[in-house]
Amino acid sequence: MTDSRSTPAHRGLWSSRMAFILAATGSAVGLGNIWKFPYVTGENGGGAFVLVYLLCIAIIGIPIMMAEVFIGRNGRHNPITSFRLVAERNLASPAWRISAIVGVLAAFIILSFYSVIGGWAASYVGHAAMGDFTGQSADAIGELFGGLLASPVTLLIWHTIFMALVVFVVARGLKSGLERAVTILMPALFVLLLVAVGYATTTGHFGEAVSFLFTPNFGALTVQGVLVALGHAFFTLSLGMAIMMAYGSYLGDDISIGRTAVTVSIMDTVVALMAGLAIFPLVFANGLEAGAGPGLIFQTLPLAFGQMPLGSVFGALFFVLLLFAAWTSAISLLEPVVEWMEDKLIFARLGSTILVGGACWLLGIASILSLNEWSGFAPLGMFERFEGNTIFDLLDFFTANVMLPLSGLLTALFVGWFVAKESLKSDLALEGASFTLWYNLIRFATPVAVAIVFVYNLLA
Ligand code: PHE
Repeated sequence: MTDSRSTPAHRGLWSSRMAFILAATGSAVGLGNIWKFPYVTGENGGGAFVLVYLLCIAIIGIPIMMAEVFIGRNGRHNPITSFRLVAERNLASPAWRISAIVGVLAAFIILSFYSVIGGWAASYVGHAAMGDFTGQSADAIGELFGGLLASPVTLLIWHTIFMALVVFVVARGLKSGLERAVTILMPALFVLLLVAVGYATTTGHFGEAVSFLFTPNFGALTVQGVLVALGHAFFTLSLGMAIMMAYGSYLGDDISIGRTAVTVSIMDTVVALMAGLAIFPLVFANGLEAGAGPGLIFQTLPLAFGQMPLGSVFGALFFVLLLFAAWTSAISLLEPVVEWMEDKLIFARLGSTILVGGACWLLGIASILSLNEWSGFAPLGMFERFEGNTIFDLLDFFTANVMLPLSGLLTALFVGWFVAKESLKSDLALEGASFTLWYNLIRFATPVAVAIVFVYNLLA
């Protein structure tokens, strides 16, 4: 057993609070912000949904993020070992680490299909730059996307490229890998996003997008919509996957976890709203459908790029933005698993990264085939709930609806009820009233809210 004070020799720290913020924001800002948030907002009627989503970020997202970072920094090991150490220090059962085990497993599974979607973004950079959307009809653009999904070989090539990019960064370790990547990619992402919003203001439909996003229409909000908002708050902040524990384990002792987590959550939310402000004006200007679902980014937007002046330039820049966002998120999915292997000294950094990345790449092939050759294969089809669900659908469902909420719920309960209040107070470095607020949220509101979504999603 590891002595609770010792830390493994290979371990370093982020060079600054800013480095951690960029890395954690890089994790949080991903396909969820730029691809999913706009389309679920579109499907759920806009403003009212946004309002509920913001509430969920405040009540569930921020408190759990603080709890996860706390465990990582207090334990200073990989998420599973950290959880055990924090439990032991607080005389709680080491079995609580099941929360981190579920999280690390979820990270591994999610990366396998996240990489496939990251590959779509990479391939669309090329399509946009080559002018493949220019002057095309909706049907032709739909066929382009359909053609990508129908071709296992093309998907495999892009999945391989994307996974290689991720392995390349993680293999180089904390400072020359993760930290260097986020210090280049995050500012670039932000500039690209500003350009996209700037362009959107010239379409003449910016005001329409603003009122769509910010005028609450509660008539359009359903119970289902509230649950989607809750689930998305979780996903978009990268919670329940041991990521914030892994990243927190490299955070300097003098840094306030409370303020830092709030900063990361605000940046993530700002990016999601900006993505909406970049995308919806194009949608409205071209008379397209705001509630187009998952195809919004890969079908609706290319149509808009195909019709605008300099569309191939803006289109390519937009997909570079999406690619960068997906890349920094994928890095954060690989890190907890690699950190675990490395801590266990099974392999050194390079070996661990290649092994985990390779295994993930292999599993990704099942998701690729689910889109074409195996599209009729529904492994759990005997249950009505899963009729017609491919392996890809199932991996997505079980991670997002079972593993993440379960891991988050256990973390909230553990930190809220089993960790000494004094140790939380000093680590989070929150002042009187904000500490009390956080403490009450993590003990009561957060677990109750997560439990409700969890049960509802399982039964619905
Ligand atoms: N938070 C990321 C997003 O919004 C998604 C993500 C999930 C990233 C899980 C890493 C891990 O897209």
